[in-house]
Amino acid sequence: MKDRTADHRERLDAHVLVCTNSREEYDCCADAGGEETLVAVKDWLRERDAFWSSVSVVETGCLGLCSEGGAAIAIQPRDEWYSDVQPEDVPALLESTFGPEANRVGNATTQPADD
Ligand code: FES
Repeated sequence: MKDRTADHRERLDAHVLVCTNSREEYDCCADAGGEETLVAVKDWLRERDAFWSSVSVVETGCLGLCSEGGAAIAIQPRDEWYSDVQPEDVPALLESTFGPEANRVGNATTQPADD
């Protein structure tokens, strides 16, 4: 076993976790566009040359925010939680966290005041 905590803390700004979980008898992100929302997150970052950067996108299981209205997203370690996210919501959501052109990627602690 290797402890990579220090390496990862140095390199990683944020994980964007997107739930695509499927549940049979309950509302779930799989039935509410989770896969499409995951693609929208990846596309937004790719379009800003920020995919495979210090922001990591993680397809995940249930985040405990299940809804028929859209997927759940968590951004860690920023401690941001969203539910009912549709693909068309992704640009505004990611802009609010990372800036319109992802200019806050890699800078989790200081954010420019003018964007
Ligand atoms: S199924 Fe996505 S948050 Fe529960």
